[in-house]
Amino acid sequence: MFDFLKPKPKEPIPLYECLVTDMHCHLLPGVDDGCRGCDDTIACLQDMHKVGFSKVICTPHYQYPRFPNEEKDILELYDLVKRDIRKMDIVHGIELVGVAGEYRIDSGFANRMDENKFLLVDGKYLLVELSLHQQAIGIEDYLFKLQMMNYEVILAHPERYPYFSSRSPHYSRLKDMGILFQANILSLSGFYGEQPRQKAFEMIEDGWVELLGTDTHNTVYTHALMESTHDKRIQKLMEKYGHKFLNSQLTKPEAPKKKF
Ligand SMILES: [Fe+2]
Repeated sequence: MFDFLKPKPKEPIPLYECLVTDMHCHLLPGVDDGCRGCDDTIACLQDMHKVGFSKVICTPHYQYPRFPNEEKDILELYDLVKRDIRKMDIVHGIELVGVAGEYRIDSGFANRMDENKFLLVDGKYLLVELSLHQQAIGIEDYLFKLQMMNYEVILAHPERYPYFSSRSPHYSRLKDMGILFQANILSLSGFYGEQPRQKAFEMIEDGWVELLGTDTHNTVYTHALMESTHDKRIQKLMEKYGHKFLNSQLTKPEAPKKKF
């Protein structure tokens, strides 16, 4: 087929501008299944700016034994990448403003709690995720212990766990405990399938979701994100609920870093 006959992709619109900050993505290169190199990171940042974001907090995976990241190494790498991107002076209108982690509650998590070195979103929030396949035992106990350690806990993409429905009593208990929920924007566009899409809409409409994240791993994600800006249902949702999400409050100057 001749190239000129192919429909041109529509230009993205800054639909997510009101959120200001993306607080969940895998832009730190080479440490997980996210960006592979700085070029990837830069391409993702440029796309994310096109959909309206101006600040980004990187949240690499901490997962045992797949991604045995150490907080000290992550902080060092973050500083290097941030400095290099600044030096190159090709990314404008969007910047890296912090690094935290997406900590999976798995068989290595008890050790992580003993070490207590967690890197926090905006110096305050601990982002945790669960297995995408099977329900771990004792999730509520872990979350309760984290709260006792004075962490404000955010559960990443609750709509993506197939073993919990959007109105599951389990989620109801977590909301009663004060656990914050972060939905993935791409769940709303059907990127992960129909079930997560429906669940994401339901949970946001039920008032159970305090934050949105892109969970960007590479430009496949950011291309889907750009496309999502033309989805009428997402546009309506952003119009109604966009200002309620806590993302825009994560804009204070970079939180002081812990020393390890
Ligand atoms: Fe993630």
